[in-house]
Amino acid sequence: MKRDPADVKLFVSSVLPDIGIDMLRRESFNVMTWDEDAPIPPDELVKNAKQVEALLCTLTAKIDAGFLSECGHLQIISQFGVGYDNIDIGEATRLGIPVGNTPGVLTDATADIAFGLMIAASRKMFFMHKKIEKGKWKHFTPKSNLGIELKGKTLGVFGLGRIGTEMAKRCKGAYNMDVLYHNRKPNKEAEELLNARYVSFDELLAQSDVLSVHSVSSEETKGIFNRTAFEKMKPTSIFINTSRGAVHNEQDLVRALNERRIWGAGLDVTNPEPMDKNNALLNMETVAVLPHIGSATVEARNAMSKLAAENIIEFYRHGQIPHLVNPEVLQKT
Ligand code: GLV
Repeated sequence: MKRDPADVKLFVSSVLPDIGIDMLRRESFNVMTWDEDAPIPPDELVKNAKQVEALLCTLTAKIDAGFLSECGHLQIISQFGVGYDNIDIGEATRLGIPVGNTPGVLTDATADIAFGLMIAASRKMFFMHKKIEKGKWKHFTPKSNLGIELKGKTLGVFGLGRIGTEMAKRCKGAYNMDVLYHNRKPNKEAEELLNARYVSFDELLAQSDVLSVHSVSSEETKGIFNRTAFEKMKPTSIFINTSRGAVHNEQDLVRALNERRIWGAGLDVTNPEPMDKNNALLNMETVAVLPHIGSATVEARNAMSKLAAENIIEFYRHGQIPHLVNPEVLQKT
């Protein structure tokens, strides 16, 4: 939709790195921002979105059917983030609203967190840190605090896309790990690059020493890592999730760890978010949890801000969205 940015009102529903906001203002968009350091309440989101043509949001904004029934007038929704499970894409598409996102620029940052969590869990790092804080570091103890090594182990990737591939590259480079994966469809390029082998979901569970989740959260994947799945994993295995907490059932994970069905876990995403500070996982020796910081580097967040702004600028300048989630919308017009 080509339109003079000066005629476009835009609402930004979270506090974002300045770079993208500055770009939009330089292009003369009328930018309004939500300036509180907390997720915008749904009624405020609707109220503000009703007054604008374009919305720039992130995963804490619930763009569900209810929101869209009130804000079907929006011309574009630009998501700051690669995942967009907070947005009802089917409904946005039905209403003819294009949705943009910011893939690629947070791949390395997120793979680093998956890789870091794997090491942290395997060597009990977070628990050991807490031990010092609690005054429990008394002396060198040859038989305790033992972790497990990763060299030559098997990495199973659930969702071998951009981030999964980077995680696998790190695991191959550092530990010469074998790579297995399970996807909706085979990823031939990654197979060649990593010598990765496509396996069934059950095989992935049975054979992985480290199972790292990099899939989207969808009807197909929600809760897929549940009690039945954990029971099929090796008792020596480590479960890593840096994609979306909804993909695992957290009670089942706690139980699997307590019953020693699996050895450890590293989570950057939890179910629900934020995690309660009394969650049992936070006190487990072989568990490492982070507060959804996969993309939280200066470089990645600035690049995400820039891409989210570019999606809007290109839409109004040239009628195209560089990173478009629902291309069928623009094909229609
Ligand atoms: C963050 O979780 C994202 O999806 O970009």
